[in-house]
Amino acid sequence: MNSPNDAPSATWPYPRWIAHRGAGKLAPENTLAAFRLGASHGFRMFECDVKLSADGEPFLLHDADLDRTTSGHGPAGDQPWDELSRLDAGSWHSAAYAGEPLLRLQALARWLQANGLLVNLEIKPSPGLDEVTGRVVAQAVRRLWTGQTPMPLLSSFNPSALRSAREAAPEVPRALLLETLRTGWVDEALSLGSVAVVAHHAQWTAEGIALAHQAGLKALTYTVNEVACADELWAAGLDGLITDRVDLMGPRSPA
Ligand code: G3P
Ligand code: MG
Repeated sequence: MNSPNDAPSATWPYPRWIAHRGAGKLAPENTLAAFRLGASHGFRMFECDVKLSADGEPFLLHDADLDRTTSGHGPAGDQPWDELSRLDAGSWHSAAYAGEPLLRLQALARWLQANGLLVNLEIKPSPGLDEVTGRVVAQAVRRLWTGQTPMPLLSSFNPSALRSAREAAPEVPRALLLETLRTGWVDEALSLGSVAVVAHHAQWTAEGIALAHQAGLKALTYTVNEVACADELWAAGLDGLITDRVDLMGPRSPA
């Protein structure tokens, strides 16, 4: 594999390899167990999904509902953190992780900083809560990462969430997440004050990456789980890659 240097550059302070939801599918996504596993494979940056509890606590969960990845049921955003904190977010994955709790952003910040690790926080609002989620997550990052460099990279598919994150804490860098490189994507990313575009891997070509670079944007991608695909994208000039396969590619990949 043409694995790029994972060290930060003069123009990009983040590692190029990013572990998806902590450690992809190898441990229960978005739990501290997953981050620990990703770190044990040498990853120094992680992507995860952040939303709000009913009482405004930022915590990690991908889905709008609790059912797939926890012992709870129904919309995650309807429950206060005190209730969410009692759920089992590990048993659905495997017995080895039974009892693993949901993770608050506050606790994740403590663990990342203690271990010198970085994060891409995907703002994943519960339905109807785009703006408040963007604002509260950005304010929490400002507070929890005070004095830390680099700050977490915020990202979202949701332009409203990115806009309110920008208004609340403009110093926290943002990236626009895109399933497709839709018409006007460069201008859209720039109008949100983005530093990067994170697009689905099938969307990027060398020409698209060059367009991003010409606009001063970095080009990142999700979620690449095939070595051949990663190789092609690195060769095309990609700046960062999110993967589930921390066991197959990335910082401590087998030769
Ligand atoms: O942040 C990139 C990627 O995580 C977006 O897709 O559905 O896995 O959150 P999803
Ligand atoms: Mg995500």
